[in-house]
Amino acid sequence: MIEVQHLTKRYGKVTAVDDVSFRVEKGEILGFLGPNGAGKTTTMRILTGYIPASDGRAIVAGYDVFDRPIEAKRRTGYLPETPPLYPDMTVREYLDFVARIKGVPASDRKGRVDAVMARTHCADVAARHCGKLSKGYRQRVGLAQAVLHNPDVLVLDEPTAGLDPKQIIETRELIRSLAGDHTIVLSTHILPEVAQTCQRVVIINHGRVVAVDTPANLTARLKGAETMYVQVDAPGADVPAALGRVAGVTRVAPADQRGAPGAYEVESERGRDVRRELAREIVTRGWGLLELRPMRMSLEEIFLQVTTEEHAEEAARA
Ligand SMILES: Nc1ncnc2c1ncn2[C@@H]1O[C@H](COP(=O)(O)OP(=O)(O)OP(=O)(O)O)[C@@H](O)[C@H]1O
Ligand SMILES: [Mg+2]
Repeated sequence: MIEVQHLTKRYGKVTAVDDVSFRVEKGEILGFLGPNGAGKTTTMRILTGYIPASDGRAIVAGYDVFDRPIEAKRRTGYLPETPPLYPDMTVREYLDFVARIKGVPASDRKGRVDAVMARTHCADVAARHCGKLSKGYRQRVGLAQAVLHNPDVLVLDEPTAGLDPKQIIETRELIRSLAGDHTIVLSTHILPEVAQTCQRVVIINHGRVVAVDTPANLTARLKGAETMYVQVDAPGADVPAALGRVAGVTRVAPADQRGAPGAYEVESERGRDVRRELAREIVTRGWGLLELRPMRMSLEEIFLQVTTEEHAEEAARA
C-alpha cells in the first residue's frame, strides 16, 4: 500500500533523510520512531507530496507521489505536525470546507462532518473559531480533517502530541479502529505509543533506518530472549564458575541491578532455553534460587542501543 525506495532529502549540506526504504502493507499501522531531527516529518512530507525528494521514490495507494500527485493525494489523509487550520473559520465551517475541497458529495457532507467530529471528540467545539482552540483541540480537529474523506492511507505526524492522557488513549483507540480499512503511518518519539498502537516499527536516526521490526521482535531481538536474570542465595560460593559450567551457557556476568547480592546475567547459545538446567544446578548445590527469568529489553533500551550504536559507528568512521 505504501512503498518507499531509497528516499533521500537534502537541504543544502544537511541530509535530512538518507536512503530510507520501507513498505507498509494494506491495513497495517507502521510506527515511525526517532529522536528530534531524525527525519520523520521530512519523510512524511515527501509521502504526502508536500515536498519533493532529492532521490528515490514513494508509491502510495498504487500511485507514485511525484508522477501522479493528484491521485496519490486523493487517497491520503495527512495530519501535519502543525494542523492546517483557518483561524477565522469555526470548526464546523472548516471541516465543511475541507469536505468540499476533498470532493465529498454535497448530500453526504453534513453527515460526514458530524460523524467525524463525534469520532474525534471535537463536536463540543463545532461553533468555536479554529484560531481560539487549545492545542489539544487543534490536534483533534487536525485528525478530523485527515480522516474526513475516508482515505485509504493515513499519514499522522505525532498524532497524540499535546493531548491530555484521556485523549491520548482515545486517539490511540481511534487509530487502531481505523487500521484494517486504512493503512497508517504515524510518527512519534513516545515508545509505549509504538508498542501499543503499531504492528511494525521503523526506527530512524540521523535520517537513516536503523531497525525495522515488530515491537515484540525488537524487544526480543537485540539482547533479550537468550539472557536470563538469576538471583541466588549462596554466600561465599563461586556462583559464576558453577553456572558457567552448565551445558549451553556461554557467559555469566554480575547483573547490574544496583548491586543486588547474588544477581547474575546468564547468556546462553541462541535459541537454547537453559532455565531447567540452571535451576537444577542451583538447587542441587543447596543454594537458594531467589529469581530466574528471561531478560527482555524495553523498547527504551533498544531505542537507545540502536541510536547510540550508530553514534559510536559514526564516531569510529570520523
Ligand atoms: N526546510 C528545511 N530546511 C533545512 N533543513 C531542514 C528543513 N526541514 C528539516 N530540516 C532538517 O532536517 C532534519 C530532519 O528534520 P525533521 O523535521 O524531519 O525531523 P523529525 O524527525 O520530524 O524531528 P521532530 O521529532 O523534532 O519532529 C533536521 O536536521 C532539520 O533541521
Ligand atoms: Mg517532526
